[in-house]
Amino acid sequence: MEQTVERKKRIFSGMQPSGALTLGNYLGALKNWVALQNDYECMYSVMNMHAITVRQDPAELRKRSMEVLMQYIACGIDPEQSILFFQSHVAAHAELSWILSCNTQMGELSRMTQFKDKSKKHADNINAGLFTYPVLMAADILLYQTDLVPVGNDQLQHIELTRDVAERFNFHYGETFTIPEPYIGKAGARVMSLQTPENKMSKSDPNPNGYIGLLDPEEVIIKKFKRAVTDSDAEIRPGADKPGITNLLTIYAAVTGKTVDEAAKEFAGQGYGTFKQAVGEAVAAELAPVRQRFEELSKDKAYVESIYEKGAEIASSIAARTMRKVYKKVGFIAR
Ligand code: TRP
Repeated sequence: MEQTVERKKRIFSGMQPSGALTLGNYLGALKNWVALQNDYECMYSVMNMHAITVRQDPAELRKRSMEVLMQYIACGIDPEQSILFFQSHVAAHAELSWILSCNTQMGELSRMTQFKDKSKKHADNINAGLFTYPVLMAADILLYQTDLVPVGNDQLQHIELTRDVAERFNFHYGETFTIPEPYIGKAGARVMSLQTPENKMSKSDPNPNGYIGLLDPEEVIIKKFKRAVTDSDAEIRPGADKPGITNLLTIYAAVTGKTVDEAAKEFAGQGYGTFKQAVGEAVAAELAPVRQRFEELSKDKAYVESIYEKGAEIASSIAARTMRKVYKKVGFIAR
């Protein structure tokens, strides 16, 4: 009897190497990426082509790109299981981006809130790449016939655009692209700044006490949690009126695998000092093996190189299949 082998669904995601990764990236994305590896065919890329839509120092960009890739691995992305690569190593990202940009409207791109935000933030460098950023992102996703894209809320509008562009292309030229869907993780912990808990924890926070770097040493992590902003009453419970405590509870819950309510119960009646110390220790314990693995990888350049070389090769061959189809559909002469 014929056996039907079900193809695993494909996942694609990536981060820009535009700063040091934080606990927010870890709990909000990386931990999720790791969990998806068994059930999906995962491709995780370092989005260095997106990074240059804002000014980057070339030496820094090179260094950080490598560090991001190593942090993916250090966090538990298994290179034997998942495909890891640098976006710039697969030329098809730029090639497909051109074709898609001819199928994307100026009006659609003008509505992107990230473009509006970044134009305000980088008013001296509103370049065309910043404007077409979502088209390159659509190319990243569509090149691999991706089924699911794990992203944060801030990227949902870009996924929506990717779907619109793909559907339009399929309509005009015939079935070409899989229509991707956003994948919202179950936990999807949203980690806020330790200093201004109204804002998302960010690697570009000018105050380093606001974020925990993925590679911060234990003492630093504990010190930063000790300094975390709380409030003047002394109750450990989540609530809209208690953004600082809620954030610490969320972090503790995400790290220990407990619910926020369980975490609150555990610390009920205790002082903020004890609580903050416990959160700091739990986070430090979670990140210690990540830092250790990162340090090992830093000493093994040849191994890391073999990972991203192999990743680029596999990604390129999948991408080439899509590109052949696309070029044929739009009427380019085969060579
Ligand atoms: N724009 C994403 C971010 O800033 C990064 C990214 C680029 C991405 N291309 C992607 C994420 C494709 C998912 C899929 O977070």
